[in-house]
Amino acid sequence: MREFPEGFLWGVATSAYQVEGAVQEDERGPSIWDSFSRTPGKTFHGDTGDIACDQYHRLDDDLDLLAELGIPAYRFSVAWPRVMPSGRGAINQTGLDYYQRLVDGLLRRGITPMLTLYHWDLPQALQNEGGWTRRDTAQAFAEYAAAVYRALGDRVPFWMTLNEPWCSAFVGHFQGRHAPGWRDEAAALTATHYLLLGHGLAVKALRDLGGKGQLGIVLNLASQIAASDDPADRAAAQRVDGNENRLFLDPLFRGCYPEDMVEYYHPVSDFSFVHDEDLTLISAPLDMLGINYYEQHIVHADPRNPERGALIDVPPGPRTAGGTSINPSALTELLLRVKHEYTSLPLFVTENGMALHDYIDPEGQSDDVERIAYLDAHFRAASVAIEQGVDLRGYFVWSFLDNFEWALGYSQRFGIVYVDYRTQARVPKQSAYWYGRFIHQNGQV
Ligand code: GCO
Repeated sequence: MREFPEGFLWGVATSAYQVEGAVQEDERGPSIWDSFSRTPGKTFHGDTGDIACDQYHRLDDDLDLLAELGIPAYRFSVAWPRVMPSGRGAINQTGLDYYQRLVDGLLRRGITPMLTLYHWDLPQALQNEGGWTRRDTAQAFAEYAAAVYRALGDRVPFWMTLNEPWCSAFVGHFQGRHAPGWRDEAAALTATHYLLLGHGLAVKALRDLGGKGQLGIVLNLASQIAASDDPADRAAAQRVDGNENRLFLDPLFRGCYPEDMVEYYHPVSDFSFVHDEDLTLISAPLDMLGINYYEQHIVHADPRNPERGALIDVPPGPRTAGGTSINPSALTELLLRVKHEYTSLPLFVTENGMALHDYIDPEGQSDDVERIAYLDAHFRAASVAIEQGVDLRGYFVWSFLDNFEWALGYSQRFGIVYVDYRTQARVPKQSAYWYGRFIHQNGQV
């Protein structure tokens, strides 16, 4: 394994709704995921985040576990409805105090915090007014972001505004598989814009507050490979790349929406939601970019709709328990693409990991050798990108704990630590011990 740069930040990641539980405790308001997961048929077995990993009540034990495993950084998210139960206005101090305890607990243990302001749990009160399809929500996000930054900006070094706006916009507003469960392509485009505008307004608000926090955003980027050289397949791959990657990268780093996608979406939307100053705000300079990497897609034209459709396949070869492909080299290519086509900003892999059907064996262990092999291969792929000039500053494994995997409920385990959801016992898997050794030896394992 190649060396990683001095100060390379190794960590693990979670998000509020997926691990905290305590959804009705201490004045927390409801989020769209509380509503969505409680709607019959929306999640696997009707699973909800009501309890999840109960981290709200087990915070110190989990922080101790991070320290015992030798994990230097922790990426977590703040639940907007815990801080502002109705989405804007009055601050719930008890909610904010929880995150003060979380951050101070990390710092006391020598663990670096990376804070995500929005990991999909929009206050339901804002959704009742239209949610991310309303410009007001973008403004409300900036006000919420400023409130959290005033409380924690003096000691949290890394701030990510949004996690995966593509998922919030398209999985939540077009595919209907995530909250708020809409199936409306025009709404997904409007939500795309107001999510990005919320990011831009939040960056401005945090910059205006001064302080030393480094600001960024987290995008889920996937590599799209045309199934053949057939022009129809190539055009389909270009469209999927446009929807999943360039619709976000271009506004953020080029200050415009990709022309081919504006044209493609014309029958659905005229993009009249874009006002003069918006793209200037959205493309304001950042300090870093977070990339969540999980998979590569093979894209075919859809014979039923060759002009607009696309069939997305998984490349041949090994897959995770979640059915996604395992393509470490695609991570190298993705990091190089972002560097050469978009930005020379410091990059972080803010999520990468695999689902397995982990279990506790008769010896009381969880021997997830496949996850060790997966992580080792992806770390190598990242080191190749660094060798080729990518300014990669850190890597966060998804996830610290097995947790609520959104519409898939608790059916998929991504953690390097096994969670017994009945007892809430935590059992570090072999990958957790391996990761700690890997970090301690800077990759020489
Ligand atoms: C995402 C989210 C995480 C997921 C993880 C596994 O990238 O979809 O950030 O919340 O749980 O990626 O799918």
